[in-house]
Amino acid sequence: MLVIGAGIMGAGIAQVAAQSGHAVMLFDAREGAAAEAKGKLAQTLEALVAKGKLSADSVAQTLDRIEPIASLEAAASVRLVVEAIVERLDVKRALFKQLEAIVADDCVLATNTSSISVTAIANGLQRPQRLVGMHFFNPVALMKLVEVVSGLQTDAAVAEAIFELSKAWGKTPVHARSTPGFIVNRIARPYYAETLALLLEQAATPAVFDACLRAAGFRMGPCELMDLIGHDTNFSVTTSVYEANFFDKRFVPSLVQRELVDGGLLGRKSGRGFYRYPEGAGSLPV
Ligand code: NAI
Repeated sequence: MLVIGAGIMGAGIAQVAAQSGHAVMLFDAREGAAAEAKGKLAQTLEALVAKGKLSADSVAQTLDRIEPIASLEAAASVRLVVEAIVERLDVKRALFKQLEAIVADDCVLATNTSSISVTAIANGLQRPQRLVGMHFFNPVALMKLVEVVSGLQTDAAVAEAIFELSKAWGKTPVHARSTPGFIVNRIARPYYAETLALLLEQAATPAVFDACLRAAGFRMGPCELMDLIGHDTNFSVTTSVYEANFFDKRFVPSLVQRELVDGGLLGRKSGRGFYRYPEGAGSLPV
């Protein structure tokens, strides 16, 4: 199989697929990014070996199965593509069109989009019925849920195959229709929006919000979670849900998010968001 996009999510998807025994090619538009992602994964897994949580053999096998590739043409024979690139409709559409000219007619095309209409991404493809949403959650290795998202033209058999594959990877899949933000991201929008509104009102600091929600039983508070997701991605998701709901005021994006994105303070992946990450850009929660 082929994973496209070697960022937060693509690296995680490649890891889980390789740990489940698949040979995984990993491609990123930025030269060297796929090899860097594999290097970072090696460090993370080796740290788990040192803690006695994984065997050295299993880690070596996992890493052996991941092959960074420099051109999409190298993946002409794959049976499944999972796309995890930037959250933009035009870029995803262009990529899938390009892929159709490379892969076989029966290769399944899956998108890890968080919010963009699967129906819209498929528009213009020669075989829109083979495009399906396979929406993982962050961090991919830890989060069980996968939303299997069907657009208007998605073949039910393709959705079912991805549902079964997710189960084989130890995940808990659910079927969802391609509505704006699907299920979890739609429900989560007001949660982030109220947090960001409270920040604008200077109610308290991000650390206080996070402490409150942790004390209320959440695994992470909203600000640390947004730092983990990446503010660029989260802002794109909010904007996409807002636009898809005909500019419904309930989903208006926040100025706080735009400031963070404009300033390059993207969260863990850039080393600073609401918090600073002295352990370095791209660090995962410990
Ligand atoms: P990221 O910013 O960490 O990584 C995106 C990667 O895609 C970058 O390495 C970039 O160089 C590469 N890229 C961009 N355009 C490309 C193209 N045309 N061809 C090949 N590679 C390209 O982003 P992240 O967070 O991994 O998100 C990727 C996708 O996953 C987005 O659609 C996002 O909405 C979705 N997602 C993100 C989650 C999160 O918590 N960050 C959770 C679930 C889904």
